[in-house]
Amino acid sequence: MILDILKFPAPVLRVPARPVEAITGETAELMQNMLETMYAAPGIGLAAPQVGLSRRIIVLDLDHENPGPNAIKLANPVVREAEGEVVYEEGCLSVVDFTAEVTRAERVAVSGYDENGEEVDIEADGLLAVALQHEIDHLDGKLFIDRISRLKREIYVRKLKKSIRTGKEPQESRGVVI
Ligand code: NI
Repeated sequence: MILDILKFPAPVLRVPARPVEAITGETAELMQNMLETMYAAPGIGLAAPQVGLSRRIIVLDLDHENPGPNAIKLANPVVREAEGEVVYEEGCLSVVDFTAEVTRAERVAVSGYDENGEEVDIEADGLLAVALQHEIDHLDGKLFIDRISRLKREIYVRKLKKSIRTGKEPQESRGVVI
């Protein structure tokens, strides 16, 4: 089932999400729906607050040519280790019509729980590392626009207000939509 993706400045995007206490069939179903929503959008990652649920759940898949086998579904993900630095031009399914360069750790070790409640450890670098950090930020009520300069953020907010006022269609973004 495809869910609605909420857009900035929806308040739920700014609230730290609550941990998942028990991974049930409902959790697995939500993860599956989030994945379908992410593929349809299309994006390479999605966090539960983006579909209006303040729960610590993320899904990711970098391989849209072959969706599914490499998909990651995690409840209560935590960054255990982070090192290095890398810059990507990021976008977000909840931040329309805007991308910006964001600096993050180049390599991370993340752990969490899959849809069966099994503990999962992931070591990632490059884009997957960036996407994991971007999604975990969502669980803390943070957006990539919080990681850019205030000036760039204000330019974006002005542009967004203008596009809401004029009802103009958003332009295509250039970066990677996470
Ligand atoms: Ni995002």
